Amino acid sequence: MSPFDLPSYLAERRAAIDRALDAALPREDAPPATVHKAMRYSMFAGGKRLRPILVIAGAEAVGGGMQQVMPAACALECIHTYSLIHDDLPAMDDDDFRRGRPTSHKAFGEAIAILAGDGLLTLAFRLIADNGATLADPRVLRDVIAEIADAAGTLGMVGGQVVDIESEGRAIPAETLEYIHAHKTAALIRASLTSGARLAGATPRQLAAINAAGADLGLAFQIVDDILDVEGSLAELGKTAGSDRRKHKATYPDQHGLEASRVRAKTLIEDAKAALVPLGRAADPIRGLADFVFERRS
Ligand code: IPE
Ligand code: IPE
Ligand code: MG
Ligand code: MG
Ligand code: MG
Repeated sequence: MSPFDLPSYLAERRAAIDRALDAALPREDAPPATVHKAMRYSMFAGGKRLRPILVIAGAEAVGGGMQQVMPAACALECIHTYSLIHDDLPAMDDDDFRRGRPTSHKAFGEAIAILAGDGLLTLAFRLIADNGATLADPRVLRDVIAEIADAAGTLGMVGGQVVDIESEGRAIPAETLEYIHAHKTAALIRASLTSGARLAGATPRQLAAINAAGADLGLAFQIVDDILDVEGSLAELGKTAGSDRRKHKATYPDQHGLEASRVRAKTLIEDAKAALVPLGRAADPIRGLADFVFERRS
């Protein structure tokens, strides 16, 4: 078997996801045009499309395919993009650049930025409903909706964002930092993988392996995000570097130092790969994505 070609894998899936997202979002001139323009502005500014690619890779790892999970893949990108728009607001991280462009509130004002985020979050659940058409068993859709809602809400991403904000400028214990990162970022990354796997008919054993890998990969992703905030640049990241220091955020490099942060991220990537052993070669895309999470510069 030829070795897994990650650049082609990413490029092909990104292109397919972008086509599906373009079809899923209301047109720019659909009334009320301002909010639809703002939703598209943030969605099509760029972005790695990591979460929707993980939905697809989760499906592939259990023998499924891209078309079977595309609406859910788009839904995860909608939830993620909403979280970025709100994360950048003046009341939160107060950032001026995202995906290489002025942030939504800079371009459209705070009210429309908030509403564009709300619109994307709500559209996500409409798209997940659409994914029901590919399923013989409606109970799978119920489980997927529950899983994504938990991962996005106050028990997941929103909860992590709350503690992130409440921890600004304070010395917090290491467990609290783990909580922030596991919730604000890892929860949605983990749920991306598992919802793809569920929709493609994963067995409980396959699901447990993918869930464990997703938690590790998600935590590694946020640790690398913290490292890049110290080491990266606006040109590379498409967002202003040094934002965490300016806001006195609790971060991995701040608590543990850059080198220990790198070691921890690398260990988590190896743990994720170890969890994937029962899935065999079908999990090669997830393995490739795990390496990408560690090596990325943007
Ligand atoms: C940024 O996510 C926000 C975090 C959870 C750290 P990404 O780095 O995946 O952002 P895009 O989608 O590529 O813009
Ligand atoms: C944000 O973490 C996680 C989200 C839920 C959006 P960060 O605040 O570190 O993300 P960036 O660095 O602004 O992308
Ligand atoms: Mg933040
Ligand atoms: Mg931020
Ligand atoms: Mg960050």
